[in-house]
Amino acid sequence: MDDWTTSHDRVLAQRNAEGWMFLIEAARDLRTTGAIAPSSKTLARLLTDPVHKHGTQPLNVLEVGAGTGSVTRTLIPRLSRGSRLDIVEANARFAAQLRHLVRTHPRLTGESERVHVHHTLVEQLDTIHLYDVIVSGLPFTNFAPAQVETIMNRYMELLQPGGTLTYFAYRGTRYARAVTASRAEARRHCAVEEVLADYQRRYAIGCWSVWGNLPPANVWQLRRPVSVPAPATLDITAGAAQ
Ligand SMILES: C[S@@+](CC[C@H](N)C(=O)[O-])C[C@H]1O[C@@H](n2cnc3c(N)ncnc32)[C@H](O)[C@@H]1O
Repeated sequence: MDDWTTSHDRVLAQRNAEGWMFLIEAARDLRTTGAIAPSSKTLARLLTDPVHKHGTQPLNVLEVGAGTGSVTRTLIPRLSRGSRLDIVEANARFAAQLRHLVRTHPRLTGESERVHVHHTLVEQLDTIHLYDVIVSGLPFTNFAPAQVETIMNRYMELLQPGGTLTYFAYRGTRYARAVTASRAEARRHCAVEEVLADYQRRYAIGCWSVWGNLPPANVWQLRRPVSVPAPATLDITAGAAQ
């Protein structure tokens, strides 16, 4: 067997193992895990495009809800030199898997201290940093509307003025819930969509559909306006060098 075959086999085996891990965690807690399979490469690329667009500029990047690392794996090679990446993940088993990914990723050899995995809910993330880009993988439509409002508000606080937030939403979930769930569940789902629609109206700069994902998803890009003052509790001088 040549080198290509063995490394290709290794990647396939790793994807398979992650697929199973995701499925097991979804069976344990579908509400928080929010999906039955990791995101596709196309979805991961769209979510991380704002990082790529900054070119060689060092950035502060936050990834929230990283799961088994399918988006993280696309994100790491797109980080420019001197950038900092904070990864937030609520599930302890996923957080352990992400730490392993950071320790062993070839692009981070000798530089893994630039990447920090936080095993916590993003609502409880304690950080002094502001971020140029936030990539969110959270399953918002499984949450209560008040929780979504809290998290979106926190994202806007954590963004640098002019910074970009990307997140995705699976397509068609409202109709699926209307057919399969209780009226209260369908109402909760609509209320979450209204919270998100309000942020989209105020801050959206783009939305793309990814039909090849399982299930198909929309990717949203939101930008914090430059003119909104930073909250007094945060240190706006915190830059990529810290
Ligand atoms: C839909 S999965 C996305 C995983 C990965 N980003 C991907 O696209 O394949 C959502 C992830 O968010 C995590 N999560 C859910 N609620 C969270 C919260 N409040 N704070 C941080 N992570 C959370 C879950 O444990 C899960 O790993």
